[in-house]
Amino acid sequence: MLRDLAGYKNRSATVVDCRTSFINLYNSRICRFLYLYPRKKNNKQENKDMNFLELAKQRCTTRGFTEQQIETEKLQQILSAGRLAPTACNRQPQRIIVVRQPENIVKVQKAYKTFGSQCVFIVCRDTRNELIRPFDNKCSGDLDIGIVCDHLMLSARELGIGSVMVGLFDPEIIRKEFNIPQYIEPTALIILGYPENGFLDPERHSTERKKLEETVMYETYNEYSALDKRR
Ligand SMILES: Cc1cc2nc3c(=O)[nH]c(=O)nc-3n(C[C@H](O)[C@H](O)[C@H](O)COP(=O)(O)O)c2cc1C
Repeated sequence: MLRDLAGYKNRSATVVDCRTSFINLYNSRICRFLYLYPRKKNNKQENKDMNFLELAKQRCTTRGFTEQQIETEKLQQILSAGRLAPTACNRQPQRIIVVRQPENIVKVQKAYKTFGSQCVFIVCRDTRNELIRPFDNKCSGDLDIGIVCDHLMLSARELGIGSVMVGLFDPEIIRKEFNIPQYIEPTALIILGYPENGFLDPERHSTERKKLEETVMYETYNEYSALDKRR
């Protein structure tokens, strides 16, 4: 039993070592990155024109687009915003296929409806290029892609372009139609265009989102109870 305990101790020591070295590796990569690319100081004060909360309120899912094409410069701007998204360890696993040719939009439609859109981004993750958390093997890829997609959608909205993020498409159809290799996973579609019926009311969140206290807690995990609140 003593030997078992010693074995257990050794194993847990190895796990701790492994964790510590992973964190060190992660940090050293970040440090090296920061060291190699020292940042210019940005002393700009708050920009009153750039109200993020306002933009976030204005973004909404659009499921109906006009035939108006998105201008190439605007597309470039949206894609550039996606490029700036943070990713775990800066691995940048996103691979984005921009689909604009009508015959290729038809191919997307085999996997999901496109709501009359003239432009779809197939947002993929390169599974060779992701960070795996050693404690539970959780992969950072979907988080990375989620952040990239949010950058894309917010940037589009800033330019007056609507979007819908789609997760419920058939990835195998997309893989086959667009010659995507096995190690690239089609993760999301961003369907874009000028909205047929405008954007939703930015004030809709007062009823469409949970109350802040239902999703945020301080200092420790605490289940929200509407009953407790009413007392
Ligand atoms: C990860 C993710 C997957 C989604 N998948 C779909 C989808 O397959 N089809 C769809 O019509 N909308 C999809 N949506 C859009 C959500 O339904 C929508 O964002 C949500 O209802 C909130 O509405 P809002 O975007 O207008 O604020 C998805 C959104 C996210 C973030």
